[in-house]
Amino acid sequence: MAVLIQGGRLVTATSASNADVLCERGVITRIERSIDPRGVTLPPGERLEVVDARGRLVFPGFIDPHVHVYLPFMGTFAKDDWASASRAALVGGTTTLIEMICPGKGDEPLAAYETWAGKAAGRSFCDYSFHMGVTRWDALAEKQLREIVTGRGIRSLKVFLAYKGALGVDDRELYHALKLARELGIVVTAHCENETLIAEKQEELLASGRTGPEWHEPSRPARVEALGVEHLAAFAQATGAEVYVVHTSCRDALDSARAARARGVRMHVETVAPYLTLDSTFAERGTPAAVDKGEGTFPAFEGAKYVMSPPIRDRQHQEALWKALADGTIDCVGTDHAPFDFKGQKEMGRGDFTKIPNGIPSVEHRVDLMHTFGVRTGRIDLHRFVDALSTRPARIFGLKGKGDLFVGADADIVVYDPEHRSTISASTHHMRTDYSAWEGWEIRGRSETVLLRGEIVVRGGVLKVRDGDARGRLTPRQ
Ligand code: URP
Ligand code: ZN
Ligand code: ZN
Repeated sequence: MAVLIQGGRLVTATSASNADVLCERGVITRIERSIDPRGVTLPPGERLEVVDARGRLVFPGFIDPHVHVYLPFMGTFAKDDWASASRAALVGGTTTLIEMICPGKGDEPLAAYETWAGKAAGRSFCDYSFHMGVTRWDALAEKQLREIVTGRGIRSLKVFLAYKGALGVDDRELYHALKLARELGIVVTAHCENETLIAEKQEELLASGRTGPEWHEPSRPARVEALGVEHLAAFAQATGAEVYVVHTSCRDALDSARAARARGVRMHVETVAPYLTLDSTFAERGTPAAVDKGEGTFPAFEGAKYVMSPPIRDRQHQEALWKALADGTIDCVGTDHAPFDFKGQKEMGRGDFTKIPNGIPSVEHRVDLMHTFGVRTGRIDLHRFVDALSTRPARIFGLKGKGDLFVGADADIVVYDPEHRSTISASTHHMRTDYSAWEGWEIRGRSETVLLRGEIVVRGGVLKVRDGDARGRLTPRQ
């Protein structure tokens, strides 16, 4: 089927114009001030569908550069699979996901790659790629990592400077991963914290009876994250590698990234939707102190819903993040979608906050949250919005044909109604988790029509994909 999007306002990272867009054979074939459907010639038997986009914004499909779908972690597994996560992504306007492959320390990289890729293949309704996690360094691992990059086209790595004894790398492993990346001309994404400081702090807090979710943030304060960024920067400088700091949560880490860049370190910065919209009072929910401070009455342990790492910070950091997003210090906004139920999963950490599975389900709502609390409040303009949620992730990670609207680009397109009103709720979301971190929040804006490589996958805000017809594919990388 061919699709003509008529009468919308096209917005990219750098331009805005009133134009029609014709999509044929999965790509954009024409962008013109006005395209008459009667003048469109199609192959015999092919139909032209016209989408009325008057009063709507037309964006390139959004890209989430940081999600977890298959995630064995902290003694349990994340709740979504590729079918549920990709459906949730599409209905929220995200047409491409990049998932973190997180092998265990003893796992062989190629086997891990095949496991993760096998979970997405034939099951994903949106396009996807991966960041290949490095959790060990030896001759076999190096050989297999080279094969994953050059043979499978996975042109980014992931390291954790956290999760001591589990996913975390030591300095030798970090050094060699960066050296390899430099040699192959690829980016290394990194979770930046100081794992030793965290482990010591956790032990002290637990020993003194501070066991609730509200102690998660004090166990890994802002300086601990900044130290992780500084550590990564020193290694990036020593090796000449290009690095990408994932899920930056605080002013301190931003300052460290700015200082590194000023020294010539090639460092990209990502933040994620939870840090821009939630603050540390959420993890305090359900404590007597929160009630005393007038923050509302919630069931005990409610704060576990908001435990992720790095932690959700005090509100002052949120404003620093918005400013850094507006001025381009922050390149990209992802989600770090890491979906665990409250019942049975977050609850594993009752009585010991270090056992609460880290992560917040979020892949569905990033675009609408950023539109509501970023664009509509004037904190960022529409161009930065498109840039941070689509164009820069595509450029940094070499997603061919994605992240922009031009003739020849993949026809991944979002027709967005900026006035639509809705309320987020776990009872209506498409993610598999039993809660939403934004339950009851009023949202302005909706991805009304979504195209994935020219096929309409969301119409009137409703998913139109059929079970067994998962068309998502591994996106080629440059
Ligand atoms: O809390 C988080 N961020 N969970 C997912 C794993 C990670 O660190 O990205
Ligand atoms: Zn992380
Ligand atoms: Zn993550």
